[in-house]
Amino acid sequence: MTSALFSIRRRLLGWLLASTCVLGLLALSDTWREARETANDVSDRVLAGSALAIAERVVVSENGSLEVDIPYVALEMLTSAAQDRVFYRVDGPSGTFITGYKNLPFLARYEGQPTAFFDSTFRGEPIRVATLARSASTGINSMPFMVTVAETTIARRQLTNSILLHSALRLVFLILGATLIVWFAVTVSLRPLRRLGAAIAHRSPDDLAPIADRVPKEVQGLVETVNSFMVRLQSALDALRHFTGNASHQLRTPLAVIRTQLALAGRASTLEEAQRAALKADEAVADAERTLAQLLLMARIDATVRARRDEFPTIDLAELARTTTADYVVRAADADIDLGFEGEEQVIVRGEPLLLTELMKNLISNAVLYAGEGAVVTLRTSRAGGEALLEVEDNGPGIPLERRQAALTRFERGALQDRPGSGLGLPIVEEIAALHGGNIELADGPDGMGLTVRVRLPAIC
Ligand SMILES: Nc1ncnc2c1ncn2[C@@H]1O[C@H](COP(=O)(O)OP(=O)(O)OP(=O)(O)O)[C@@H](O)[C@H]1O
Ligand SMILES: [Mg+2]
Repeated sequence: MTSALFSIRRRLLGWLLASTCVLGLLALSDTWREARETANDVSDRVLAGSALAIAERVVVSENGSLEVDIPYVALEMLTSAAQDRVFYRVDGPSGTFITGYKNLPFLARYEGQPTAFFDSTFRGEPIRVATLARSASTGINSMPFMVTVAETTIARRQLTNSILLHSALRLVFLILGATLIVWFAVTVSLRPLRRLGAAIAHRSPDDLAPIADRVPKEVQGLVETVNSFMVRLQSALDALRHFTGNASHQLRTPLAVIRTQLALAGRASTLEEAQRAALKADEAVADAERTLAQLLLMARIDATVRARRDEFPTIDLAELARTTTADYVVRAADADIDLGFEGEEQVIVRGEPLLLTELMKNLISNAVLYAGEGAVVTLRTSRAGGEALLEVEDNGPGIPLERRQAALTRFERGALQDRPGSGLGLPIVEEIAALHGGNIELADGPDGMGLTVRVRLPAIC
């Protein structure tokens, strides 16, 4: 069993949480920056108001010096917000200190400039300072002065923190909500897969029918792969069933002959009698061997799924026919058969070389076996249009027209039943041709005598 990877749900949640946390932290830092600016903006405006209120009360006294009557309401405007403390100072021309906190930091400024703000510290506490430059008129000339108002920053920090806290809470709720939605969505989305799993689990082992359940698009490819695997498995199982059924049927007779002959040899009174029985047993073993080889070949064709045709290599049919013919020349000569090959040009097809060789072997051995002594057998390859042609012709007795269809049926044998064979040769040839997208035809031999087996395959230009 393979070890399971993390569940899809956990992966999705992991990605969601990690990404929202990172994005959330970025958003929070931005919010914090903005909250600070907002808090400063609001408080600066009040600070500027206070400075202005003080500036309004600066007057030139009778003796020509500047006097200030500090309006405490102006300072209370500030202190009412939090526990902030407020400081101020008023400076006259050339920076002469008039009233307020002498050590309070201030900016040297000129009349007409807008109120300036800056951050500083006073008595060990962070403060925000506003400076306003004005002048008081004596009627003859004007006296410039500067009002500086500062406050500690507790209220600003509180406002910033409260904005930040609210944003953080909203973010946490958002992440929790998204987590719940993803959890629910994944559960619902995976339901078809669970149904699919249950449907397959409840199937009987023999049921290799394609999966017809509706599944999400993303899983469609997987289901199609499983379905095509099932088709291949089904054809492999069919091939196995065919093979076992055919083998037990076809091998029963030669095995019975072997047992009988061996029993006869055991009981034989003379050596010649025993040798005769052993020879017959040996022939039966050869027969069983041939039948088994044909059955195995048949099973291999059955198991080769037709869809795999595209994966066959390209080969030269003429070259293959030439070498296969050459392999049989000596054997044919022993049977007094004149075996030859004709074919000048290359005939390229897409094919499985071993199966096409078996196809040719079956046709040559049929011709050698059934055409009779002195016969002429010719293999010929050619191209006709988009087709590759392989012909095996002999001038023997041939197969009567009405028997030709039957000769293509499994286990059907012709008149010459005394010759060894299982009746699988021609059906195998037909199946191999079909597996390559072609067909076969049984026709008369040369001059209307004998037999021509014509195999047509799709040719490659
Ligand atoms: N060239 C031929 N000339 C005459 N008869 C043939 C020829 N080829 C096949 N036949 C007949 O067709 C029958 C079926 O042939 P097939 O090759 O299918 O089976 P087989 O030769 O009997 O057995 P196997 O090929 O499985 O060993 C043969 O038994 C034979 O009677
Ligand atoms: Mg045969």
